Amino acid sequence: MVELLPSILSADFAHLAEEVFAAERGGGTVIHVDVMDGHFVPNITLGPPVVKCLRKATKLPLDCHLMIEEPDEYIAAFADAGADWVSVHYEACRHLHRSLALIGEHGMKPGVVINPATRVNLLKEILPMVHHVLVMSVNPGFGGQSFIEFSLDKIKQLVELRRELGLAFRIEVDGGVAHETVKRIVQAGAELLVAGNAVFGGGRPEEDARALLAAARQAAGEPPVKY
Ligand code: DX5
Ligand code: ZN
Repeated sequence: MVELLPSILSADFAHLAEEVFAAERGGGTVIHVDVMDGHFVPNITLGPPVVKCLRKATKLPLDCHLMIEEPDEYIAAFADAGADWVSVHYEACRHLHRSLALIGEHGMKPGVVINPATRVNLLKEILPMVHHVLVMSVNPGFGGQSFIEFSLDKIKQLVELRRELGLAFRIEVDGGVAHETVKRIVQAGAELLVAGNAVFGGGRPEEDARALLAAARQAAGEPPVKY
């Protein structure tokens, strides 16, 4: 089943809880939280204190996308703050196997993220460890960028690899998910759709989330959600 993961990166941080509630009413089922350190990516956002506040505000799972160096040093803090899913970048982990194991040991669902220029095949050995694979379809760091088309091939490759290996990890896509792209993304096989600008950019998160999810479900051949 396709799910919409509103990315709070494009939300109004001064009214974060209201923005999250609106996206939830529009059908968002997991909240995507972008953590940036100004080193791994050229932007700085937020960390465990904000995750802790979000945890109190919503019951939805919090999907923390760590765009940071030395992620192992912060796994415990995200667990304490109440994160549910934590994903680390292939490109940021010196010992990816250890990082994924650490996330699991802290009771969270481990995910691995690959940048646009990183090949899917590099993940083969660690795929049995992950709950989700996040395919970046823009270079991480900013919301509102254009979808990189070759990401569709990477999603298809992952679907194939999952079948070949008999695994059940979920395929998440992040960057440039919008009305113009969502149909092809879903048809390629992605099921967890992160959207920042398309949900929060227009100032109508509830309506825009609802419309985007409806388009995604239609592309997946799933019945429309009843409100
Ligand atoms: C980018 C972040 C994304 C971002 C996506 O580095 O990882 O989660 O919010 O933004 P949109 O949906 O605006 O492309
Ligand atoms: Zn993200």
